[in-house]
Amino acid sequence: MPPSFIVARLVVMTTWNMFGHMDEVSFLAYTGGTVLAPMAGSTDSAFRRICRRMGATAVVTEMVAAAGLSRRSVRSHRLLRFHPGEKPIGVQLFGRRPGDFARASDIVSGLGFDFIDINAGCPVKKVVRSGSGSALLRDIPALTEIVRATVSGTDLPVTVKVRVGWSPEEPVPDSLPSLLADAGASAIAVHGRYRTDMFGGSVRTDRIARLAGLSPIPVVANGDVTCPDDARALLSATGATGLMVGRGAMGNPWIFRSLSEGREYMPSPEEVTEVIRDQFRMMSEYVPEQHLYHVLRGSLLQYIKGFRGASDLRVRATGVADREDLEDIIRNLREHLQRKESEAQ
Ligand SMILES: Cc1cc2nc3c(=O)[nH]c(=O)nc-3n(C[C@H](O)[C@H](O)[C@H](O)COP(=O)(O)O)c2cc1C
Repeated sequence: MPPSFIVARLVVMTTWNMFGHMDEVSFLAYTGGTVLAPMAGSTDSAFRRICRRMGATAVVTEMVAAAGLSRRSVRSHRLLRFHPGEKPIGVQLFGRRPGDFARASDIVSGLGFDFIDINAGCPVKKVVRSGSGSALLRDIPALTEIVRATVSGTDLPVTVKVRVGWSPEEPVPDSLPSLLADAGASAIAVHGRYRTDMFGGSVRTDRIARLAGLSPIPVVANGDVTCPDDARALLSATGATGLMVGRGAMGNPWIFRSLSEGREYMPSPEEVTEVIRDQFRMMSEYVPEQHLYHVLRGSLLQYIKGFRGASDLRVRATGVADREDLEDIIRNLREHLQRKESEAQ
């Protein structure tokens, strides 16, 4: 199914929305669209807003510790901040104790989120060592218990984000989609890699297809989508109902526009710099002044990394310390892009 078709279907569903079926519509934006993947440290509220404007049909927060929420940790609660312009939005929880998930899902349910997502894919050692993230792929009874506990604390749809297994020797069982559905999950996002792959190697589309073919609930496919051709290939190889895009959106939120139009969209130099400025203006609404320039270095680098011949700008972006530095880099970036554009003509 071409991504543009997915968007057309969403337009129909949005019309349906006028008749009052908001929950189903928001949820369809997750299961049948092009969703911005959760990425800790990258997909903060400002970037999620930008991606929604560019055509991401739904977004998910960075992962939030279920235990942190149930202990009322300020750091975890800060990650729950979102703007209405991001909706439909899911909140992603990670952890290992079902009781934490039950309490956390109760806490987040009143905050305006459209669904709750459970992280069963994070490969980071610290997370896995604590029995969370992709460690849950080796303990399906624990994962289903977590799903049940999360469902028990909320009326929102609950989704689960998994990988295709721990390793090629330990793939998730074929029964996983049915087990998750029986536990109350409404959809599954599948990153087509094993934990042992981390983020490298090619996406195992055959494994996603197998799970999608056996699943009684919608499956969203994830992995290495960077252009409309990738999106078309992943959808047709897997039979998934929708797509999720992670790294392909970093520094390139226009990917969602490309996907909805079905062909590569090239932003003008002015558009690029306007979007960067806008993202930083939104960040300044919630990041304290003393941390702002440190926090925005990462995002600025993401934008610059895609442009060839901009290595001096990359170096300067790592040291941006105030508004003047930022404006100077943005002006130089625009001039760089304008030069490239006129060379190409
Ligand atoms: C920097 C980074 C942070 C990530 N953080 C999360 C996270 O918080 N929760 C999650 O479920 N996946 C996380 N992921 C995985 C992505 O959501 C996605 O599954 C993965 O990057 C594969 O998709 P892609 O090839 O489109 O990037 C992260 C990935 C990256 C690169």
